[in-house]
Amino acid sequence: MNLGNGNGDATASELLRAQAHIWNHIFSFINSMCLKCAIDLGIPDLIHHHGRPMTLLELVSALHIQPTKAHCIHRLMRILIHSGFFQLRDLEEADGQTGYVLTRASCLLVKPNPSSVAPFVLLALTPFSMAPWQYLSAWLREGEDVHSSTFEMANGVPAWDAWRSPEVDGLFDEAMARDSSLMAKAVVDTCGGVFEGLSSVVDVGGGTGTMGKAIMEAFPHLECTVFDQPHVVDGLVGSERLKFVGGDMFVEIPSADAVFLKWILHDWSDEKCIEILKRSKEAVSGRGKVGKVIMIDMVVGNQTEDHRSTETQLFFDMLMMVNLNGKERSEKEWKKLFVDAGFRGYKIISRLGLRSLVEIYP
Ligand SMILES: C[S@@+](CC[C@H](N)C(=O)[O-])C[C@H]1O[C@@H](n2cnc3c(N)ncnc32)[C@H](O)[C@@H]1O
Repeated sequence: MNLGNGNGDATASELLRAQAHIWNHIFSFINSMCLKCAIDLGIPDLIHHHGRPMTLLELVSALHIQPTKAHCIHRLMRILIHSGFFQLRDLEEADGQTGYVLTRASCLLVKPNPSSVAPFVLLALTPFSMAPWQYLSAWLREGEDVHSSTFEMANGVPAWDAWRSPEVDGLFDEAMARDSSLMAKAVVDTCGGVFEGLSSVVDVGGGTGTMGKAIMEAFPHLECTVFDQPHVVDGLVGSERLKFVGGDMFVEIPSADAVFLKWILHDWSDEKCIEILKRSKEAVSGRGKVGKVIMIDMVVGNQTEDHRSTETQLFFDMLMMVNLNGKERSEKEWKKLFVDAGFRGYKIISRLGLRSLVEIYP
């Protein structure tokens, strides 16, 4: 049936499906905000500590929520079950009664888990992280260089300043450290061979050293330097094989057999990435032997068989654009950067989920 009004020859059911698709997109933020609410309330931790399926009544009483609002918790948990964060299990002792249990995803939201993603959820969904999305079209329309990013336009300060402000109380470094804990396990388990033959590594932008420590512990032949901005590493205490050094990666990177760049280059424009890569090349070429750069970042499109993975990579690309004027790159884009920075080859190892480990050879 042709309904006219610009709808071409779409049938009513096609139009209703299109409308549902739009509704789903309008309200996708509700998934994010329900997840944040569950973490704010401490629900994953409560269920974890309960140690067996937790009934709605037990959850409501542990949350100190008014009994009249119990139905709201039921509905919050229902959407979070739908999106894979919790499951309902039969209680062994009580016929027909069910209780909430964690899934693989919500185990990663429990705060004491060293790889917990909870700090990242809270940082990514804090009001100052959400505000820039209201300004994206305005930022795209305004003149060059008025605001360095949509984030700055919305919040009046660059993202780096906001992330390291006292109001967020270390959340940024904590989110990075927890991610590094998970990635360290994945790197050691699946790509450990990349450290063979090396005696020293400098983890550039290594934050508070979680990855550096993990590399050093997993590979006893390695010395690791964690290199970051002075205000990040000041006061951090290393050990015989782990050093913290403050500095600026755009000026000089301490020399080592390998430069490790995890989640660094996606923060920066092509021009800035080329500068970092050139400084990295100098750092691994300065000891009479030629080392390599080991990068961990996304390679957009290397998950093409999986629609959701590609979508998540594209979410990150938009996030980098809005926050920092950075970007997630395809293999073709990475290759151009490596060539422009004077490298002769690279190898992509796609064993790290949405991210890849890339060896870059001077
Ligand atoms: C996205 S975080 C990644 C941290 C860590 N590599 C990880 O993946 O957990 C980027 C890091 O780069 C550091 N950084 C930013 N500008 C820098 C500079 N000019 N010199 C050295 N480090 C810098 C930041 O302080 C931050 O720790």
